Amino acid sequence: MDNKFYITTPIYYPSGRFHIGTAYTTVLADSLKKYHVLKGEDSYMLTGVDEHGQKIEIKANELGKTPQEYVDEMAKIAKELWNKMNIKYDDFIRTTEERHEKIVQKIFDKFMEQGDIYKGEYEGLYCVPCETFFTESQLVDGKCPDCGREVAPMKEEAYFFNMKKYVDRLLKYYEEHPDFIKPDYRKNEMINNFIKPGLEDLCVTRTSFDWGIKVLKDPKHVMYVWVDALTNYITALGYMSENDTKFKKYWPADLQVVGKDIARFHLIYWPIFLMALDLPLPKTILVHNWITMKDGKMSKSKGNVIYPETLIERYGLDATRYFLLRQVPVSQDGIFSPEEFIERYNFDLCNDLSNLLNRTVSMVNKYFDGNVPSYVGTPNEVDKNLEEYSVEQIQKFEEKLNEYEIANSLQEIWSLISRTNKYIDETMPWALAKEENQDKLKSSMYHLIENLRKIAILIKPFMEDTSDNILRQIGIKDDELKQWKSIKDYTQLKNIKVIEKGEPIFMRLNVDEEVEYLKNAMKK
Ligand code: MSP
Repeated sequence: MDNKFYITTPIYYPSGRFHIGTAYTTVLADSLKKYHVLKGEDSYMLTGVDEHGQKIEIKANELGKTPQEYVDEMAKIAKELWNKMNIKYDDFIRTTEERHEKIVQKIFDKFMEQGDIYKGEYEGLYCVPCETFFTESQLVDGKCPDCGREVAPMKEEAYFFNMKKYVDRLLKYYEEHPDFIKPDYRKNEMINNFIKPGLEDLCVTRTSFDWGIKVLKDPKHVMYVWVDALTNYITALGYMSENDTKFKKYWPADLQVVGKDIARFHLIYWPIFLMALDLPLPKTILVHNWITMKDGKMSKSKGNVIYPETLIERYGLDATRYFLLRQVPVSQDGIFSPEEFIERYNFDLCNDLSNLLNRTVSMVNKYFDGNVPSYVGTPNEVDKNLEEYSVEQIQKFEEKLNEYEIANSLQEIWSLISRTNKYIDETMPWALAKEENQDKLKSSMYHLIENLRKIAILIKPFMEDTSDNILRQIGIKDDELKQWKSIKDYTQLKNIKVIEKGEPIFMRLNVDEEVEYLKNAMKK
């Protein structure tokens, strides 16, 4: 097993405020990165913004700004948001940066020289907001299949990438690399919907707008956004530049996270570009589904958009991150509703997690003045059960996360939390306290603290502050005991003292009031 993990998010269009959908992709990637960090791997995460194209040009015009002024502001806003969401990216690429533009031009030239790109004429139905041409048969009710808006006929001289040349190689690659696409059903979707009907060559330039990277040898053409956008994953690492150490170290990517709407670009065009460059393909491309609302897609006109800031400011970052990851299973759409948000907060975070911590800290204070007894083995029958169960759950958690089933991996952690709460009722420490031999009581306190330590390590990639908070309250100071490699051991805790008075990490919310609050926030 190699010891590096390169993970990327899509680069976002800065064409409006970032909603929880965009935040979801980023939190997902960030959590996976942190999991690999926790495991001691050399992990590197790239995110950024996709700043060219007609949509941005139009938006900037509407605001009376130059496109550059507009994207400068938006890049700052994106960074501020990721900062607020504790996203630990290692690099943030902007497609207007010189380091990107120069290399994209070189890549384009190379494609032309190799004969992969040729000049032709494009005629088709164009959707301006999506910057995409469609054929008649791709339209849905005569409208854009992606955004549902009107399309208009357009014709222009353009360059094309010869996709057909690579189709067989691509299919063979899919066949031979079962881990390349996750979840698996997306592969058949690509084959049946796009490849079998006959893959069209891809139009890769435009003359109808200006805001893009110019083709060096034919500067009235600007590059169509997908050549520009997709190559960010390698230009950011210094591919084809003087300093390509990072490229050599981190490429191919271990995981590229993308939403279902851009699966086609990442599962078909991107691997073909890489083949044309004679580069290895990413190990896995993970396609996730969407967060939707009860009444369908989020949209300003429906008044059902929720922004991450709204949730973070009122309920805290970790509750927000938890909800996003728990609510949207990667392979299905997940619904955001105020009721479910508050319910998960009250049940999962407050009743299950926060109460387990509070009950435990208060009992260790009550029975042992805050000093956690050392391991005395498993004098209770249930202690052994709990140990076995915990180790199994950690195993299941790992299996799910290695398959990138994030919501399910969180579910495994919460099963462990519930089981540990149940353990309190089973051992009844208040009854054990009356026994002459205190071993059983000692053991039950030890197991509770030890399980809280494990739980804190497990949630760390997703909810860093909460994890640190739990470790602080149960008195874990030694760095070794905060690491993944110590997670399965059951015997190591010695000389640990919990804090004198437990501090609740999540407080029960009033359901009606909060649902009302969120409904109002969504209308703004
Ligand atoms: N700029 C392109 C990506 C280029 S990558 C080389 C783009 N940008 S985007 O801003 O429109 O979307 C970025 C990501 O956000 C996509 O992965 C998309 O699926 C995701 N999401 C946008 N809305 C979403 C939800 N409602 N739910 C989950 N993810 C969503 O496409």
